[in-house]
Amino acid sequence: MKKKVLGTLLSVAMVASMLVGCGGGETQTAAPAADAAPAATEEAPAADAEEAPAADAAEAPAATGGKKVGVAMPTQSSERWINDGANMKAQLEALGYEVDLQYAEDDVQAQVSQIENMIASGVNCLVIASIDSDALVNVEAQAKEAGIPIIAYDRLLMNTDAVSYYATFDNKGVGTAIGKYIEENAGLDPADPKTIEFFMGSPDDNNAHMLYAGLMEVLQPYLDNGALVCKSGRTSFDDTCILRWSQETAQQNCENYLTGFYADEDLDICATAFDGFAYGCKAALEGAGYTDENWPMITGQDAELMATKNIISGKQTMSIYKDTRLLAEKCVTMVQAVLEGAEPEINDTEQYDNGKIVVPSYLCTPVAVDQSNYEKIIVEGGYYTAEQLAE
Ligand code: BGC
Repeated sequence: MKKKVLGTLLSVAMVASMLVGCGGGETQTAAPAADAAPAATEEAPAADAEEAPAADAAEAPAATGGKKVGVAMPTQSSERWINDGANMKAQLEALGYEVDLQYAEDDVQAQVSQIENMIASGVNCLVIASIDSDALVNVEAQAKEAGIPIIAYDRLLMNTDAVSYYATFDNKGVGTAIGKYIEENAGLDPADPKTIEFFMGSPDDNNAHMLYAGLMEVLQPYLDNGALVCKSGRTSFDDTCILRWSQETAQQNCENYLTGFYADEDLDICATAFDGFAYGCKAALEGAGYTDENWPMITGQDAELMATKNIISGKQTMSIYKDTRLLAEKCVTMVQAVLEGAEPEINDTEQYDNGKIVVPSYLCTPVAVDQSNYEKIIVEGGYYTAEQLAE
């Protein structure tokens, strides 16, 4: 911990009251309504016609028989979901399915209405990446009643028996990978303690809880032995989760931590669960005058294009690469399974108990990326081109 000779410490209690936790109060970015598929951005990997097999219905397998798939996505405010939606649409259309892709801009009621409309319009299957995984129970029951199977995409759908399969990444593994990265690269030593603050995901997203569990499995011993010091004292999930994964709240929390607890020494590690949070922390740190000299380790998740650029420039230390092309591929096999009677690939039948059933799942493997391996994993893997990263 490097000591700083800076102004007076605000009282801990005062700062604690300024921090915005899970309970809300955060500002939402006004995102455009999206009732059509988003235009594939230049950044969106592999969603273009070149990469995807021909989407021409004439070439599609006859078995799909013009069936329609409703794909409900949470928001276009972060790049990963734009890529997810584009990949799902391209891959399903390539197989001859009609696709109704909708984004609800993190508005829970809007997502419920979109799914109701999909059911009314006669979709044959639903793929849902939920905003609030508990809030869809009624509309999921409606789908079941109408004989429409549901696949949970990336986020588990809770408390429903209407879901057939779940395609996701190893969500606890994401947390473990972030924790291990910190363990291996931050020089954790009780004789030379490092300061750390936590920025965890949305409490209505099961993934956020699993990530936290994985992260703390690795880091708790270092908090216990004093190698890691969290000066705000906010280490529990409840104290560090951020509703709807809001970047603004992450920035606000980081600003408040810096003002309240790091006036006389530097913050060494921002343990964040999402690239959006890493951007928020970066803005807060720049605002507080941090430079290359004392820039902290900042973790993230999704390996978004901007995050990868920030990794290259040193403003973010690492991210978790999740190949959304692969996730879409696994999810499409599940759609085919429920619609055509094919066998989907499943690799987990234990971890994802949603409160009603254990959902058969396929977990893709998350990979930690930083300056040392982004070229091999991300560029050679064709996720982003060197040109995109250089822009
Ligand atoms: C996803 C993450 C993503 C986060 C915020 C989670 O459910 O698993 O990949 O960063 O939502 O969008």
